[in-house]
Amino acid sequence: MNHRQIILPQSEMPRQWYNILADIKMNPPLGPDGNPIAPKDLAPVFPMNLIEQEVSSERWITIPEPVMDVLSIWRPSPMMRAISFEKALDTPAKIYYKNEGVSPPGSHKPNTAIPQAYYNKEFGIERMTTETGAGQWGSALSFACAQFGLSCRVYMVRISFDQKPYRKAMMETWGGQCVASPSTETKAGRDALARDPNTPGSLGIAISEAIEAAVSDTSGKTRYSLGSVLNHVMLHQTIIGLEAKKQFDMIGDYPDIVIGCAGGGSNFAGLAFPFVSDKIHGRDIAIYPVEPMACPTMTRAPFVYDHGDTAGYTPLMPMHSLGHAFVPPPIHAGGLRYHGMAPTVSQLITEGLCEPKAVTQTEAYEAGVLWARTEGFIPAPETTNALAQVVKEARQAKEEGREKTIVVSWSGHGLLDLGAYDRYFSGELNDIAMSDDDLQKSQAVFADYPKPKPMKSTP
Ligand SMILES: Cc1ncc(COP(=O)(O)O)c(C=O)c1O
Repeated sequence: MNHRQIILPQSEMPRQWYNILADIKMNPPLGPDGNPIAPKDLAPVFPMNLIEQEVSSERWITIPEPVMDVLSIWRPSPMMRAISFEKALDTPAKIYYKNEGVSPPGSHKPNTAIPQAYYNKEFGIERMTTETGAGQWGSALSFACAQFGLSCRVYMVRISFDQKPYRKAMMETWGGQCVASPSTETKAGRDALARDPNTPGSLGIAISEAIEAAVSDTSGKTRYSLGSVLNHVMLHQTIIGLEAKKQFDMIGDYPDIVIGCAGGGSNFAGLAFPFVSDKIHGRDIAIYPVEPMACPTMTRAPFVYDHGDTAGYTPLMPMHSLGHAFVPPPIHAGGLRYHGMAPTVSQLITEGLCEPKAVTQTEAYEAGVLWARTEGFIPAPETTNALAQVVKEARQAKEEGREKTIVVSWSGHGLLDLGAYDRYFSGELNDIAMSDDDLQKSQAVFADYPKPKPMKSTP
């Protein structure tokens, strides 16, 4: 019998996160005056213990025991070999996937929701606000807040709110509250509705709403939480790649190719960063973040300074950006509809340490359906983007007749996304590519901002 599951014993769970800031050089985030921001500038938005993590360049950061305890409900996550998928593609490639769909909310998101809720609680915070695209992050933070006795308010991008009503019920089951964004509760929401009363919403708008709701609570007991993009989020997700490395050690293998879909970059970074570290130190390995062609942040947008949200509440961050006012088309991979990209992932792209790829919505669903019919698990629409790239690599390996080892971040299950599969089967999904004209127009918003400097991390 072939071994499909590579199970790491719970006693082998990594006890520290890997911080890539120890290994790369980054442009600093900038404040409204164009100067680098100080940690205290972020204090109204995040608790200081998380801000310290955000700016830390310590290579290894110990995972607190109460966080380990909750993570151990589902971690270590299994690394699985997709033997039936390999057979269907008739490829000599070995395809492994890190199954993050086994967590209670069904994705990688609680890997950071749990530590974020813990650090907020430790700092004396009582309420958290956040945004959610696909609903996975809002579910994860609601679950995490329930674990640590915090209340949680989630601004959910309108299009996903309408497409996935059960995500709201899931959040409410864990005690969270979920509102469609743009809402009339905040100035950022009201402004967005005034611009377009029928807007499908965007992560950029929802982030503005959640930040505004947090900083306008005068009790000082509310903070905002972001499910992707920021350094500390990438840090918490590295448990995925650290486990995967141990699992590869168990079977005496090592990947030639690492793949993950990227919306804000966190599941990709989680799997990839521990391997990027090896690459920086000389190992030959291909590392591909994958995005939808409809929202081509990494593959077509420039590396610039831009805001992380639509209203411009966040500092200017050095990143690939389609422009903070960009409202992506209503594709079904809601978690990949973001105008920017994590500064760390963006920096790696500028240095050629990661090579971004883009796939069409049809390629993604074809791969997702083939996956479900072979491996059984139904992937989230976001995850299918990564699987489409796996298919391309597996076919290439066949053409070259090479037994490559591929590992993919299987970021979440799609059991609450079946409406999207339904639309795919009835032929209603189309492939949207951004025109050059729209690309140019969306970039006007950052034309006058400072430009990031070239940085070189590798020797
Ligand atoms: C299942 C799943 N995968 C991927 C993503 C994309 O986010 P990130 O790039 O931060 O991993 C999301 C975001 O909502 C998601 O729900």
